[in-house]
Amino acid sequence: MISSTFMGLLAFTASLEFTSALTISEINGPKFLSPYANQPVSNISGIITAKGPDGLWIRSPAPDRDARTSESLYVFGRAFAANLSVGDAIIVSGKVAEFRSNKDYLFLTELTAPVLYSKVSSGNSVTPLVIGKDTLEPPTEQVSALDGGDVFAVPNNVSLVSVVNPELEPRKYGLDFWESLVGELVSVRRPRAVAKPNNFGDTWVVGDWRVTGRNGRGGLTLMDRDANPEAILIGSPLDGSKNPSTTKLGDELEEITGIVTYAFGFYRILPTTAIKISGSAKPVLPSSTKLLSSGKCDGITIGDYNVENLAANSSYLPDIAAHIVTHLKSPDLVFVQEIQDDNGPTNDAVVSANLTLSALTAAIAAAGGPTYAFADIDPVDDQDGGQPGGNIRVAYLYKPTLLRLYKPNPGSSTLANEVLSGPTLKFNPGRIDPTNEAWTASRKPLAAQWEIIGGQGPSSKFFTVNVHFGSKGGSSSIQGDARPPVNGGVADRLAQAQLTATFIKAILAEDRNARVVAAGDFNEFAFVEPLRQFAKISGLTDLDAVTGIRETERYTYLFDMNAQQLDHIFVSRALEKKAKYEHVHINTWVDSKAHISDHDPSVARLDVCV
Ligand SMILES: *[C@@H]1O[C@H](CO)[C@@H](O)[C@H](O)[C@H]1NC(C)=O
Ligand SMILES: *[C@@H]1O[C@H](CO)[C@@H](O)[C@H](O)[C@H]1NC(C)=O
Ligand SMILES: *[C@@H]1O[C@H](CO)[C@@H](O)[C@H](O)[C@H]1NC(C)=O
Ligand SMILES: *[C@@H]1O[C@H](CO)[C@@H](O)[C@H](O)[C@H]1NC(C)=O
Ligand SMILES: *[C@@H]1O[C@H](CO)[C@@H](O)[C@H](O)[C@H]1NC(C)=O
Repeated sequence: MISSTFMGLLAFTASLEFTSALTISEINGPKFLSPYANQPVSNISGIITAKGPDGLWIRSPAPDRDARTSESLYVFGRAFAANLSVGDAIIVSGKVAEFRSNKDYLFLTELTAPVLYSKVSSGNSVTPLVIGKDTLEPPTEQVSALDGGDVFAVPNNVSLVSVVNPELEPRKYGLDFWESLVGELVSVRRPRAVAKPNNFGDTWVVGDWRVTGRNGRGGLTLMDRDANPEAILIGSPLDGSKNPSTTKLGDELEEITGIVTYAFGFYRILPTTAIKISGSAKPVLPSSTKLLSSGKCDGITIGDYNVENLAANSSYLPDIAAHIVTHLKSPDLVFVQEIQDDNGPTNDAVVSANLTLSALTAAIAAAGGPTYAFADIDPVDDQDGGQPGGNIRVAYLYKPTLLRLYKPNPGSSTLANEVLSGPTLKFNPGRIDPTNEAWTASRKPLAAQWEIIGGQGPSSKFFTVNVHFGSKGGSSSIQGDARPPVNGGVADRLAQAQLTATFIKAILAEDRNARVVAAGDFNEFAFVEPLRQFAKISGLTDLDAVTGIRETERYTYLFDMNAQQLDHIFVSRALEKKAKYEHVHINTWVDSKAHISDHDPSVARLDVCV
């Protein structure tokens, strides 16, 4: 029998502990940052759910009912973790810290300098929370309340999560959802890869929860106001094993269990062990385009392909050639981007790409394709960005049996093309406003006018503009501190879009029925300001919209969790009728070892007779 005095003492001690010690959810709080940041805390009760190389994770034995507050916490301390095991119930003191390895990332709340007060018991069962079942379902569209509804809004970086520290809304915003689970042991049921792993094996996945924007391959396509926050990155396994490097877009994976955390700019799950592929996405390769040339003005085929720093001696040059012949079915006219000069990245005064383009056209012929001719204009050395010394430029490959430049009169690196009455071009081909500062360290678009051999009258001629706008380098993480995230180079692309569109507008002002095709790597999405402006000013229409390609199938590139479209074709009104278009997912579908370029090519078939 226990004496009443002792009972009273016990009750007193218990109530003292209860009133003075904090729960884990109180430490995490309902916002991004802990209300106890930089403060010492004592007697925190938790059950160890997982151990990592530098610490361990504890879960509260007394969870609250607030979906905003995580019930788990990272305890940083290698020596502290050494003598403890998963399933131990402990009481620990320490200091709450907010940690980030880079000022552009979000902070992670953790307990540092831990001191064990006691180990209460061991062998407690530890059950992961099944995402979407034991937790809310991840939001599928919006990333942060601070994005004003559009994660690609211009201007960007108008606020910082670390400064505003908004209250979490885990039902609405992706960052808030994953933040509300930071430190938790979770399971992802029936995961599927939505991208290829990066060099560290980190792999973006979705589980069996509701998603939006799913494409036919099983990936998630980036769409207007839908940036796919329902995907989660799977990071380095806690047991020291390595995730596979061969995972492909759409592959099925075995169930994943691990700890939610934030590192290197992204929320991620650190799995207890490496990802395992259970089902490989099929077919391995997409089928070849069905769009074949008619050999006449009623069915001209156009290819568009960013060939990623192609040099004359690039080991993958024959693969690019094979893609053009086998998968694009040798379009009549191919817009290529990222053609390097004759000695590739060797940084000297060489700017000509004749050798590179001859090597490519010879390889195409060797692969059973036509003997293409080519047209390009050399840049000024080292002035167009890209790999140092490479002098990348845009170029055209064309079938000289079907097409020729109309009254050829090539411009120079610095001579600005002009639209003359007719309409016709002052330089054919010629660069658009090449000395304008909008093109600093960027590729200049190449405008050309073509004539169909044997054609008659205006229906035998058409204009093209081949673009490769400035890159998104310098962007901040979509899950970073800056909101909306920094869209690197967006101001340059806006100026570039305006210049290019104004040039095209001048063609259509001369002849509203002119047949104009603008294509290439715009390095931007159709629904973001530079391309909205491009369409508005030029009067051209996005061929994806014209041909009704489903929004989820509009992608040519994989980045982070998103299948996305950087490469586009825009056409003038005269070309809309009977237009056809396909994106050929030859590089996004295969694994990292098999991919040849970082972009997918596209093919269009246009009726240029009017
Ligand atoms: C922690 O628990 C011990 C033992 O019950 C107690 O003596 C101490 O006052 C507690 N500290 C706090 C800050 O609650
Ligand atoms: C872990 O346990 C060993 C052996 O009992 C002991 O020597 C060591 O001090 C302990 N380490 C910590 C950090 O408690
Ligand atoms: C291609 O040639 C350049 C020099 O012109 C050289 O630097 C590079 O290593 C070569 N690349 C391959 C794949 O042979
Ligand atoms: C590249 O080819 C063009 C057209 O055939 C020619 O005018 C030019 O001189 C060539 N440049 C070099 C460096 O061979
Ligand atoms: C965003 O703006 C802040 C100033 O408000 C600046 O300190 C920070 O570096 C910017 N972030 C990025 C990624 O440019």
